[in-house]
Amino acid sequence: MTATKFSWDTEATRYDESRGGEARAEAAAEGLERLLPAGVRLLADVGGGTGIISRRLRREDRDVVVVDLTAGMLALAAQRLPGGRAVRATAERLPFPDASLDAITCVWLLHLVPDTRPVVTEFARVLRPGGVLVCTVDKDACHDVGSDIDDAIGDLHPRRGNAAGAAEQDATERIVDHGAAVGLEPAGESSFTAHLRGTSPASLAELIRTDRYQFWARRLAPVDRDGILSRLAALPDQDRKRPDPDFRLLALRKKA
Ligand SMILES: C[S@@+](CC[C@H](N)C(=O)[O-])C[C@H]1O[C@@H](n2cnc3c(N)ncnc32)[C@H](O)[C@@H]1O
Repeated sequence: MTATKFSWDTEATRYDESRGGEARAEAAAEGLERLLPAGVRLLADVGGGTGIISRRLRREDRDVVVVDLTAGMLALAAQRLPGGRAVRATAERLPFPDASLDAITCVWLLHLVPDTRPVVTEFARVLRPGGVLVCTVDKDACHDVGSDIDDAIGDLHPRRGNAAGAAEQDATERIVDHGAAVGLEPAGESSFTAHLRGTSPASLAELIRTDRYQFWARRLAPVDRDGILSRLAALPDQDRKRPDPDFRLLALRKKA
């Protein structure tokens, strides 16, 4: 199949189904809840996409707003969180006053932005003192479950070998450093198992070929990409799903 240029707008309608659907959303929401303190009344889910996770964070006494850059993703989020709770904006410039939010959640966004420093700075601006950010970190690296598929990717895997093209901007230590510079201090860690559609050698090769695999793969030189595809093709059990990955969550609290 020919690769088409990736865009979040065209991805929107197949996003949920292709990223583990409600099972992943439920696991992610549970992971986020483990790190959210009591008393969160207003929460923004930034880079919240279709709102599949955000809607699970609502409570009788907690309002949730989804913020995302992409109109196509937000159109789906608006159905899940009606009443103006799906807002188009970038994580670098949020539509909230200073110190106005009790919490921010941010799943699978920080590995995508070109520079995490202004995003973390913006999060610190809109959180109230004592407010909490809970975000995924080390996203690309978490995909490495040590399976034969990961061995086929080998040293090109983020955090293995020289990891050319890996998205290091969401590395835990980097996010902690950015946070420390703007008054956010570590407040806990957790993880969730993402029940993905299942990664088999054949399904992964298809995602790479159609340019829909993780972002680091799109930065590979053609020779490296072809090498991965041929090593994947040589693996046994082409359609057998390998284990699901665990994704790390980090909480940072704004100093009171
Ligand atoms: C991998 S999806 C994650 C969606 C959602 N958090 C989830 O896990 O289901 C990344 C989302 O981030 C959004 N996005 C990318 N860059 C952004 C930015 N700079 N500011 C806000 N949203 C952004 C995309 O439109 C997309 O909806």
